Amino acid sequence: MTDRSCLAIVLAAGEGTRMRSRRPKVLHEIAGRSLLAHVLGAVRAAGATASAVVIGPDSEAVAGEARRVMPGAEIFVQAERRGTADAVLAAKAAIARGADDILVIFGDTPLISPQTLVRMREALAGGAALVVLGFRPKDPSGYGRLVVENGELVAVREELDASAAERAIDLCNGGSVGFAGKTGLEILTRIENNNRKSEFYLTDAVAVARSMKLKAVAIETEEDDVRGINTKAQLAETEAVYQQRLRKAAMEAGVTLVAPETVFLSADTKFGRDVVVEPFVVFGPGVTIEDEALICSFSHMERAHVGRGARVGPFARLRPGARLGAEVHIGNFVEIKEAVIEDGAKANHLAYIGDARLGAGSNFGAGAIVCNYDGVGKYRTDIGKGAFIGSNAALVSPVTIGDGAYVATGSVVTHDVPADALAIARERQVNKENRAARLRALKRAAKTKAAE
Ligand code: UD1
Ligand code: CA
Repeated sequence: MTDRSCLAIVLAAGEGTRMRSRRPKVLHEIAGRSLLAHVLGAVRAAGATASAVVIGPDSEAVAGEARRVMPGAEIFVQAERRGTADAVLAAKAAIARGADDILVIFGDTPLISPQTLVRMREALAGGAALVVLGFRPKDPSGYGRLVVENGELVAVREELDASAAERAIDLCNGGSVGFAGKTGLEILTRIENNNRKSEFYLTDAVAVARSMKLKAVAIETEEDDVRGINTKAQLAETEAVYQQRLRKAAMEAGVTLVAPETVFLSADTKFGRDVVVEPFVVFGPGVTIEDEALICSFSHMERAHVGRGARVGPFARLRPGARLGAEVHIGNFVEIKEAVIEDGAKANHLAYIGDARLGAGSNFGAGAIVCNYDGVGKYRTDIGKGAFIGSNAALVSPVTIGDGAYVATGSVVTHDVPADALAIARERQVNKENRAARLRALKRAAKTKAAE
């Protein structure tokens, strides 16, 4: 395919009202990545040499996402929702520039695979003027039907316009369509809007191509490749399919998932070798886990890095900017945000470390916290190598704890602690002889009096 140029047009206009959401449909996410980003990823992998994204009016957010994912993509606006063929023609200027293959892909079919797009390009290279992607869904309702005669595609009929006999066809339109560059624009401009919805249907390209004595073909793929998302239920079904794929890929790459169906991954989760993930773990976007790390149950992480041989959880939360070095231990109910935990450091129980560095080999005690926020600003705490932060200490940022320093249990640290110093910042203990018994007697007397 490398010798043929390819323009990919992604349709992302249309308000997607059936999602019942203010968010544009193509910005909904599967495995932490927008539907649009999934489609653009497939387009890139299929070797597209130019890309166009068609958006609706006032869709700055969609345009922004397109530019973020694919800075080279050209953005076109479809002024009014007048059908899929009209949407393609919004990108007329890109089409007119000429490409050997023109692929049209719907922004709401996020699982489309690059291999399938390549197969469509092969059909065009083989002489077809038009190629339509078909599949046989378990439930065909809502999809257009492909009418095939003697190996050639003769029509695509939208369900609303189909006869009873046509509705019985189980081969459906997956949405993606490919045009040979030479005749594509002419076919598109000849499409009319004489159907029940008075829309310009991309699918009518088949009848037009045939009227021009051009060859149209259908190629078939799996349902999972072309799942269209029109509702929140379809979004969830597609998420489930994609999660299965991610789990399978992770296990094939050597990750041990003890109970794969309970682990949720992101499209960009990265694992090293011999990583073990216990049941019920959520990996949000931007997570990298290095070799031999152990992620225990009920941990949740996003935009975090876990170093080689580290142990996380159970019940740990790694928030954006958590960077754990090698052999680090982060235990139950510990939250880390925007903090570097250097090699071999430990925070094993009930702690919060935010906007900080925890030096190599240091120990952050049970219930200790970094007070990084005063209600207005955020401040940093720096803890040196081999330091010991006693249980229930509160480190009030900004503060620096030197290498090897020791902070006594229960201290509220507001001043820097020099290296190797012992900081005690709490009230001295006082024991009052027999006062416990007297206190109880007083309280009982008060209670009796109140009951009278
Ligand atoms: C479409 C197909 C149907 C196919 C199904 C597969 C047509 C006419 N129908 O139906 O045959 O089985 O997809 O999922 O092509 N869009 C625009 N502008 C418009 C209309 C749509 O950009 O004016 C975009 C939408 O954002 C969406 C895509 O085109 O990404 C498909 O539109 P949608 O309304 O979802 O079409 P379906 O009814 O699902
Ligand atoms: Ca759709």
